[in-house]
Order: sequence, then C-alpha cells, then structure tokens
Amino acid sequence: MTQAVVQSLKHRLEKYGQDHVIRFLGDCSADERPLFLQQLAALNFDELARAWQQSRTASDEAQDSPATIAQRAQPPGTLVRLPQTDADLQTWKSAREEGKKILDRGEVGVILVAGGQGTRLQFHKPKGMYPIGPVSNATLFQILAEQVLARSRSHGVTIPYYIMTSDATHAETVAFFEENNNFGLPSDAVRFFQQGTMPALDAATGKLLLADKNQLATSPDGHGGMIRALKETGMLADMQRRGLKYIYYHQVDNPMAIVCDPAFLGFHQQRGSELSTKVVAKRSPTEKVGLLVEVDGKTQIIEYSDLPAEQARLTDATGGLKFWAGNTAIHLFNVDFLARLTETPDVLPFHLAHKPVPYIDDGGVHVEPAQPNAIKLERFIFDALPLAKTALVLEADRSREFNPVKNQTGDDSPDTSRAAMTALHSSWLKNAGVSMATGVAVEISPLWAHDEIHAARRAAELREINEPTYLSESES
Ligand code: UTP
Repeated sequence: MTQAVVQSLKHRLEKYGQDHVIRFLGDCSADERPLFLQQLAALNFDELARAWQQSRTASDEAQDSPATIAQRAQPPGTLVRLPQTDADLQTWKSAREEGKKILDRGEVGVILVAGGQGTRLQFHKPKGMYPIGPVSNATLFQILAEQVLARSRSHGVTIPYYIMTSDATHAETVAFFEENNNFGLPSDAVRFFQQGTMPALDAATGKLLLADKNQLATSPDGHGGMIRALKETGMLADMQRRGLKYIYYHQVDNPMAIVCDPAFLGFHQQRGSELSTKVVAKRSPTEKVGLLVEVDGKTQIIEYSDLPAEQARLTDATGGLKFWAGNTAIHLFNVDFLARLTETPDVLPFHLAHKPVPYIDDGGVHVEPAQPNAIKLERFIFDALPLAKTALVLEADRSREFNPVKNQTGDDSPDTSRAAMTALHSSWLKNAGVSMATGVAVEISPLWAHDEIHAARRAAELREINEPTYLSESES
C-alpha cells in the first residue's frame, strides 16, 4: 500500500469519525500493518454509518418497525399443509413424482450454511463437526453429506454441495472434509465458499471496536451474507454453468432435514414458486421460533419476540393457533431468483443484535465484557421471501425433519436431536417388521437407507435388533 493510499485512508477514517482504529499502528510490525490497512480500506463506511443510524432511530411507531409489521400479520396464504385426506395424499404423491423427475434431470444443487459461530452450543469447533449420531457419533457434516450422496446415487446424478463457511469456520471445515474424503462425495461435487464479515460497533458510540492493535473486531455477516458471497466467489456462475435450476438450502444444525426432498421440489415447481420454505406447527403460543406470516400480501418471517403475546395466543376457526407456522430454515430457491437477488447490492437489510464483544480499550488493554457492549450486523436469508414473486409455504412433520442442535441442554439440544433420530429410525424398522428390543438405540446412515421406503426394502436383511446398532453403508 503506497503512502498516498494510506493518507487517503486516514482522511476517510477521520471523515467518518473512526480514526481511533489506527492509534496503535505504530505498535504493529511491518508484516501486520499492510493486512490491517487492507482490512480497513475494504470497509464500506457509508453502509456502517447507515446501520448505526438505523440502530438509533429504530422505533416501535415507525411504519415498518417489526412491531407494526406484526400487527398487520396474517397466517400464510400460499400454503400446502400436511396430508389429511386421501385426496391430499394423491396431491403429495404427484408432487413427489414430479420432484423425482427434477432430480433425475440433475437440476438440483444444495447449499449448506455453516458459517455461524454456534455460541449457544459452546462447541469450540465449527458446529458441523459436532458428533451427533446416537450410536455412531457421526458428525452433523457426515450425516448431511451422506444424505447428498445417497440422493445422488438414487438418481444417478451428481448433486453439487455448496458449503458456505466464514472466517470463523473455513479452515477447519475444509480440512475436516479433506480428512474424511468428502464423506464419499466426488471432489468436484463439493464447493466451499466463504461469506463476508462485518465489523462490530460500540453500542454507545458507533465506533469500530478493535479485537487487537492490528485487527478489527468482526463477525460473520449472517446467513443472508450468502447472496453477496454467491456472486463474489463465483458459485452462482458455477450453478449456472452446471445447468442447475433449483437449490435446496439447509442449515448445519439439523441432521434430520430431508435433503432434496422430492415432494418439496415437486410442490415448488407445480406452484410456480421462486422461493419455498418449510414450516412446522409451533408447539405452543410462546415457543421461541420465527413465524411464517403474510403481511400486505407478501410472505415473510417475523421474530417470535415481535408478535405480542395476545396475538400469539389467537386461534382460528378450527381451534388451532392462528399463527402456527414455525420457521425451519429449510428453503428451496430457483437459481434464476438467486441471480436476480445478487443484482441489487444490499438487497437484504441488516439486523442489529446487541452482543458482548471482546475488545481492546484506549490503553490497549483487552476487555471481556460480561454484558452486551456492541452491535453486530447480520443479514438474514429469509428476508428474501417477500422479494419472491411467489413464495410457497409447505408444512413439514417436525418429528420427521426438524430437530436442530442449538443449545447445550434442554430444547433443541444434542439430547433431543439424538432421541428424535433414534425414534424415527426405530419406527422405520418396526414398520418394516423388524423386532426391536425396547429402549435400544438404533441409527441408520443415509447410505444404508435415506427414507422409510428404502429402509423397508433393506429391512429384509435384518431379523431383530437387541443391542445398540448403527446400520451403515458396509452393513449387508
Ligand atoms: P444460527 O442463527 O443458529 O447461529 O445459525 P449459529 O451461529 O449457528 O448459533 P448461535 O446463534 O451463535 O448459537 C443458523 C444457521 O446459519 C448458519 C449457521 O452455521 C447455521 O447453519 N450461519 C449463521 C451462517 O452460515 N453464517 C452466519 O453468519 C450465521
């Protein structure tokens, strides 16, 4: 970086009141300095100033504040619920058949978002490396990658797996896939791409925080950072080059997502949807889960905390909850829609979160705040829903496909996720006539069977299960 460039950077920092970040520049080594200056030069100061302004002016009275949006919310309109009648079963069957044809044509790719820091789980590696298999201890990454492989085999095609990582997870994730030979996926089917980062702002002053004398405090820019990253890393172009039309999107923490679910694909196509999403019925009015609603004719997700308690308790004509549709973060995108989203910079808004962020103070002393001191800026992928011309909402069976690992204990923890996996796999085997000893853990690798129909075919190989059993690819 030339002297002139450094000078112009200093002017920009002064202009935006952020020149405090270079006060320790004299302490940085000759190696550290250019990297730090590059990090600063890459900042979009106008964007940061806008976000800071937004955090100051957010008010509950504003026309589009979360609270007023929640007041106008209605249950989702473009909706397919779980089958209840024979006619529904036929509709689902036809959607499934349609979806299988889409898979046969090799038009489907998969995005896994795995850039989060997993703070609630407190696992000090990328969350995908968490051992979750109830018998095998297979990691979240393994179980999900095996699903992609099983589906590819079943349709005789390559299904590309696009894995989004962040600064926080990239190196370990890539190394882990390498060590495990991509869990059997061909190497040209696995593509890693990195999302961006956003600097943290001091919540009281809007000033950038330093993690160290030569480093800003930053964090991944949210799963919505995927849109910008797809374009910048060339992954969108890769999808287009491969002739993909649909992208199944899922998160790293739900080992039971039905990757490339044919019924989901079929309904998505039949209903002319650009972005579809799966929902599950809320367990209770107060469950802390994002809600799928319609506001002014547009499908969108609102935070549970934005729905007033009395609205959350409302019931409909059938006595069920009016606002019942909980977000699973399982989506299906048209590739053309993704391409359209990437054409508008900042197409997804920032969400601001108050979080404790470690920093160094004016004296260069490292501080670990116990209370939130900073604003983190994140984009959420579900903000793309209202931008779709048609957005379909499809109901899913929670016990079958939504058992995420979010917390260390309690709801949505490793214990609940493992128990759900064991219950599902036992039911597949029992329904196929296998005698199961009570309380014995059983786990099925997607490579042995990735759904109940495949499990029923293979169950003929088994007579009874009396001890903890992992049915894996090598099982005959
Ligand atoms: P969560 O919102 O649950 O965040 O992410 P998290 O980081 O995993 O966990 P907490 O909230 O810190 O405890 C949902 C999904 O979105 C991905 C995560 O990896 C997970 O698959 N994600 C989240 C990203 O890929 N990037 C991000 O910046 C944030």
